[in-house]
Amino acid sequence: MAKTRARIRRLLGFAALLGGLAAVASSGPTVLATAEDERYGTFLVDEVGATLYAYAEDEPGAVACTAACATMWPPLLVQGGEPAAGDGLDPDAVGTVRRPDGTIQVAYGGNPLYRSASDRGPGDVSGHDVAEGWHLVDPNGRRIGLDEPPEAAGSAPTAERMRRGERVYLVHCAECHGVQGDERADPRAVTLAGNERAVGNAGRVARQIVRGGGFMPPFGRDLSNDDVAAVATYVRNAWGNDYGEVTTEDVEGVR
Ligand code: HEC
Repeated sequence: MAKTRARIRRLLGFAALLGGLAAVASSGPTVLATAEDERYGTFLVDEVGATLYAYAEDEPGAVACTAACATMWPPLLVQGGEPAAGDGLDPDAVGTVRRPDGTIQVAYGGNPLYRSASDRGPGDVSGHDVAEGWHLVDPNGRRIGLDEPPEAAGSAPTAERMRRGERVYLVHCAECHGVQGDERADPRAVTLAGNERAVGNAGRVARQIVRGGGFMPPFGRDLSNDDVAAVATYVRNAWGNDYGEVTTEDVEGVR
């Protein structure tokens, strides 16, 4: 049947694209896009509509899926210029990470992105939550089914807490994120003012400060748990942000 043959050709074309992407000379830069699924909502896809996944074993800036793993899960590699965000995606969330073999992988919200060799066409999400550690990624950079949505704003911080946080911020953080949290003095940094993806989740902010991540250095050795809690509280509640307090216990939890 002509129709079936056309369909098979399309599927084969898709599989070839996935398998051979590293070898395909793409003319333009990689542009991330989104697709919808009834069960999972909006999630990231690549230019040909292939579903993109994050791997829970990856750390921001360091990929764990290499060798045989990368055959099953072909990394989305940078080709032909800086990767870009399509409609509905945050350009600040698009980043890159260097793989151990020297190739550069596209990341979103700190998550290096992969396709699944078992997906057969646009709309397939065969990898999601099936194999352990693989998740769809939403436009906020959250791994669907793994990362908690930002909690409802917690209790408002005291003025004293905010002052302490501001002192720590000006000494340790402003040089990269700007005094008003709206700069990227280090071009790889993110803005913090009005950036739900960066500061919406209390535990994730505390973890980022204590352990560092991607191109941000860790501050766990220089700062006490109280100072980390204060500065995390500050970045979540300064400049019009309103995400609630980070407690010293939250910080102890990520040490
Ligand atoms: C040397 C530059 C530098 C300094 C100093 C710095 N950061 Fe960052 N920060 C970065 C970069 C770069 C990123 C993006 C991380 C990445 O590469 O994915 C980032 C990301 C973040 C994020 C978002 C993390 C996420 O989950 O997306 C938060 C929150 C943050 N920084 C807070 C702070 C705070 C608070 C301080 C001070 C204690 C600080 N930063 C100091 C460079 C810096």
